[in-house]
Amino acid sequence: MELYDVMRRTFAAREFTEDPLPDAVLATILDNARFAPSGGNRQGWRVIVVRDPATKRALADLSGFAAKRYAAQVKNGESPWNTIDPPRVDAATIEATPPPPHLTEPIAKAPVVLVVCVDLKVVASMDQDLERVGVISGASIYPFAWNVLLSARHEGFAGTITTLATAQEPKLQALLGIPKHVAVCAVMPLGRPVRTLSMLTRKPVAEFTMRERWGGQPL
Ligand SMILES: Cc1cc2nc3c(=O)[nH]c(=O)nc-3n(C[C@H](O)[C@H](O)[C@H](O)COP(=O)(O)O)c2cc1C
Repeated sequence: MELYDVMRRTFAAREFTEDPLPDAVLATILDNARFAPSGGNRQGWRVIVVRDPATKRALADLSGFAAKRYAAQVKNGESPWNTIDPPRVDAATIEATPPPPHLTEPIAKAPVVLVVCVDLKVVASMDQDLERVGVISGASIYPFAWNVLLSARHEGFAGTITTLATAQEPKLQALLGIPKHVAVCAVMPLGRPVRTLSMLTRKPVAEFTMRERWGGQPL
């Protein structure tokens, strides 16, 4: 496929056919994804390949906790889970909000789920002393996760980067035996997509660019 086509059409797949995703294909996907960049080329990624239905169910259920607040905040017109504006929904409202199935069930139903982790002992987190949430660390792992989706696409498969489960990271670590210094970055359901989207919704360049300084003319 032509590169720009791939970039414009690699979507978040949440519905999968019954087709298996064999280990050999998964190995090819990961063999290509590993060429992702990471800070200092430290390659701190570790991947747990989950096929056990009970473990997939547990991962989906752990995602439900954050999905409840996510859905409650979206319903209230908020940008969910952002670290700047405190949630305007109360605990009782969150508790009464069911987790939307499209945020949990793909994890339970996909033929394979990758739990993508990063070893924080090898990640240079330049923003760790700032008074805001850290974002730099993610740049050493999400290019890898994105490469998994690009490689999967090349092999006729698809999936989604999901992060809701990480709100329950200690439980994930206990479930899968992950050490404390290893962060869970994504829980990625993968499989053969039921349908292929070709038109993704994204803002135009002029909406997010500024010449020379914040507030400058768009490119
Ligand atoms: C960092 C990150 C976290 C995400 N977390 C979730 C998630 O927890 N659950 C989910 O269903 N999708 C998740 N997504 C997928 C996004 O919803 C998806 O990429 C976005 O809506 C664009 O979808 P599209 O490419 O199909 O248009 C996440 C994506 C990224 C990059």
